Amino acid sequence: MTQYSKRMVIVHWLTLAVLVAAWFLGDVVHDARKAGGADIVGYVLHAVVGGAVLLLTLARLFFRRQDGVPAPVGASLMDKVAKGIHHALYAVLILLPVSGMMQVLTSDVGKAIASGDATLLPAKFDGVAAHEVHEVLVTVLIVLVVVHVLGALKHQFLMKDGLMERMSLRRKD
Ligand code: HEM
Ligand code: HEM
Repeated sequence: MTQYSKRMVIVHWLTLAVLVAAWFLGDVVHDARKAGGADIVGYVLHAVVGGAVLLLTLARLFFRRQDGVPAPVGASLMDKVAKGIHHALYAVLILLPVSGMMQVLTSDVGKAIASGDATLLPAKFDGVAAHEVHEVLVTVLIVLVVVHVLGALKHQFLMKDGLMERMSLRRKD
């Protein structure tokens, strides 16, 4: 096996697309709240798209177990760092949506959604720990993804070792 299975590849790229949408919607909701114009639809949309990231990640870990993964590209320190980044990415892909759910459950957002009453939406998230955690994890995710993508670009353009083919739908054999 020299490439990830097709379904692993599909979920990898689908996760990227859904993450961008979740991130965009999170920012939209955040800005709307700051401007005093947040509505329930925005929160629900963000929660559904963000929740999809969690489902995709759980499916991906299941596929990973079932299908296996290609042998490591190498055993250098950088290869070990890349592997550590992958593990950290999986952890954040689970913890970020979970912290989002905790944020809804431990703030008035949950009450507002349950009753359909937008006036209950909080102007601030004072004392809601999950809100701080969610914000910090967004930053952690961005840093991890940037390092991950820089690593992929290094393999593609400096090392030219065909690493990207491992995450491609085009089969080598
Ligand atoms: C991987 C998935 C997710 C991503 C990338 C994401 C991203 C974001 C971003 C960028 C923000 C704005 C942060 C800021 O305040 O500066 C945000 C806020 C928020 N997110 Fe998420 N989120 C995800 C999943 C979820 C889920 C599953 C829920 C709920 C079930 C959720 C609930 C919230 C709430 C309530 C806010 C606060 C919005 C506000 O400031 O009023 N998030 N999220
Ligand atoms: C343009 C963006 C991206 C590129 C070019 C890219 C490229 C790659 C490549 C080439 C691999 C295979 C690495 C190997 O075989 O050692 C990989 C694996 C991986 N990528 Fe990405 N990726 C991108 C975005 C993302 C994003 C946004 C995430 C998640 C937030 C992510 C998470 C992962 C994980 C967890 C693995 C390890 C797969 C496993 O072994 O289970 N990637 N990526």
